[in-house]
Amino acid sequence: MALTRLLVFVLSAALPLLFSLTESGDIGVNYGRVADDLPDTASVVRLLQHSGITMVRIFEANPAVLRSLANTSINVTVMVPNEDLADVARDPSIAGDWVWNQVAVYLPATQINGVAVGNEVTTPIAFTAVTNSSPPSSGRFHDDLAQPVMKPMLEFLERTGSYLTMNIFPCFAFYDPTNHINRDYAVGNIPNPGFQDPRTGLMYSSLLDAQRDATYYAMAKLGFSGSSENNLGLAAKRVPMKQSIAETGWPARGKVWNSLEDRVHGSGRAATLVNAQAYNNNLINRVLSGNTGTPLHPDADMDVYIFALFNENGKGQGPDDIEQNWGMFYPNMTKVYEFDFHRRSWCVANAAVGDERLQAALQWACRNGADCGPIQPGGKCFEPNTMVAHAS
Ligand SMILES: *[C@@H]1O[C@H](CO)[C@@H](O)[C@H](O)[C@H]1NC(C)=O
Ligand SMILES: *[C@@H]1O[C@H](CO)[C@@H](O)[C@H](O)[C@H]1NC(C)=O
Ligand SMILES: *[C@@H]1O[C@H](CO)[C@@H](O)[C@H](O)[C@H]1NC(C)=O
Repeated sequence: MALTRLLVFVLSAALPLLFSLTESGDIGVNYGRVADDLPDTASVVRLLQHSGITMVRIFEANPAVLRSLANTSINVTVMVPNEDLADVARDPSIAGDWVWNQVAVYLPATQINGVAVGNEVTTPIAFTAVTNSSPPSSGRFHDDLAQPVMKPMLEFLERTGSYLTMNIFPCFAFYDPTNHINRDYAVGNIPNPGFQDPRTGLMYSSLLDAQRDATYYAMAKLGFSGSSENNLGLAAKRVPMKQSIAETGWPARGKVWNSLEDRVHGSGRAATLVNAQAYNNNLINRVLSGNTGTPLHPDADMDVYIFALFNENGKGQGPDDIEQNWGMFYPNMTKVYEFDFHRRSWCVANAAVGDERLQAALQWACRNGADCGPIQPGGKCFEPNTMVAHAS
């Protein structure tokens, strides 16, 4: 814990400007590089741009990657690698050097908008830190982590206005047939039979949301909760701390190496191209449409980085290991399956026609099946209260 606290303190003290957050949810991709057949970094940057990917997270602070991202509109989160953590934590001047050499020299041409401190040791934390996650309301942090690690970390994150970063992989819960999880629910296809939390009555239509809420409940049990937990008799703080998902995704093929499930049931139940495509596209569409809330926190934002950009042949136990099959692209830059990161566009009313004609058109639309509730006073889209905005 001393490690966590010191690291986060040192980095946030050294880098106040880098910790600015975007307010609404954004979607990016993890650009892992544990492979010997990946394209050069300049080609990768062109691929990102062409695909409409505006945020990447890298697992080191690789100079070639950071230089290639210069003068693009792509944001990047860099990471202090796990093997450097001890040194950086031991000595603030080493932390300062790290920040200068790995981050500051690339600014402002490269938009480095976050520094992750290690992976699955500090924050980001693995979802496996949460236990009893089904139903979500029973979620709590493992006893050996809750008081010694999570509580002081959450206090720190709250004090600094930061957010909890998690790695969440619903595919692993689905992979285990003894969990009897519906496939559409697991990948977030709507409609699906869903899952009702018997304690709260909340209905879940996505396993990812159930796991996000299990984490919110675990936070609530340590006193970090939104107002909606009041009915559980838990200490409440008004604003739920933001969760950011550093890694989530779905492998398109392969098996869990050495897994008993695989040997008994054969591979392919979970790790299929169709499931990977469904899960990642549902995720992209949710974030791009701004529909990121959970049943417990309907207004919750969700920053997400999909894992991963490429299949990485340097991982796992060979080509049939799921570890080599998380990519959305093959190393030759062909898509493994179809997906689209480009912002959805919508029509905007033409102000030049004048308010009177807009009003008439609006009334016609509202009488003929358009849902005009959100543009009534008090509705979600009432502001800005202008004819052009309402008509759009
Ligand atoms: C980025 O653009 C700036 C300003 O045009 C230029 O000075 C700089 O050399 C560019 N950096 C890279 C790495 O291309
Ligand atoms: C990139 O980062 C800047 C500064 O942190 C932020 O203003 C901008 O919205 C970010 N863009 C994206 C696409 O996340
Ligand atoms: C790219 O690689 C994949 C997987 O090896 C292969 O199926 C596909 O045909 C390749 N595409 C091109 C254009 O070479």
